[in-house]
Amino acid sequence: MLYHHFYIKELHIVENNGIILYNILMKDNLLKIHPLFSIFTSSCTLNIDNKPIIKYGESLRKKEKGRIRSNSGGWQSNNLPLNHKLLTPLIKEIEEYAFVYCQSVGFKKNIEYKIGNIWMNINGYKDSNLPHIHPNSVISGAYYLKTPKDCGNIGFMNPSQHLMDHTWLDTFKDSFTEVNSALWFSKPEENVLFLFPSWLLHLVQPNMNKKENRISISFNIDAKLL
Ligand SMILES: [Fe+2]
Repeated sequence: MLYHHFYIKELHIVENNGIILYNILMKDNLLKIHPLFSIFTSSCTLNIDNKPIIKYGESLRKKEKGRIRSNSGGWQSNNLPLNHKLLTPLIKEIEEYAFVYCQSVGFKKNIEYKIGNIWMNINGYKDSNLPHIHPNSVISGAYYLKTPKDCGNIGFMNPSQHLMDHTWLDTFKDSFTEVNSALWFSKPEENVLFLFPSWLLHLVQPNMNKKENRISISFNIDAKLL
């Protein structure tokens, strides 16, 4: 049986007491869609000079072995000093945007957001990051210092991925949307700051640029009720 006589005539996004609804006008009735349990990821472009930060990271790499966490290949620095002059403008911006992000998800206003730890990632050819979360933190994120062509996307995994895989088969999907996807990739751009919940599983695809490194800064943000 095909349902061609039922179709979407109009789609309106409306706000009702802070709840976003998608109102779909059908044949002769209104279908109200309420997106439940949405996961907010955010991005914004910062006006920061990346060059001195990159130089600082590259000089650190020569001196320090770094550490292995979620990284498969590549170099991840140890935690960087939070009072380092070069990082101060970036840290200030991140903390301000974290406050706004948390407003958007309905957190209280009397909360202070501070970077708990921050580190740098330099990924060469085929280096990647395996799926991981950031425990003991509220908001986490990445700021992109250098993103050459084909350097790999950041992927966010739907927490219901394993449940969806068995029922919402890819073959059913007309197109992949934010609602029906188990995995969502976002392309990193230089100077872009991503924020997302620390509990959201994420990964980084391999850098497939043979010549240039992908360089980013990752961080965790702590929240404290004032
Ligand atoms: Fe991460």
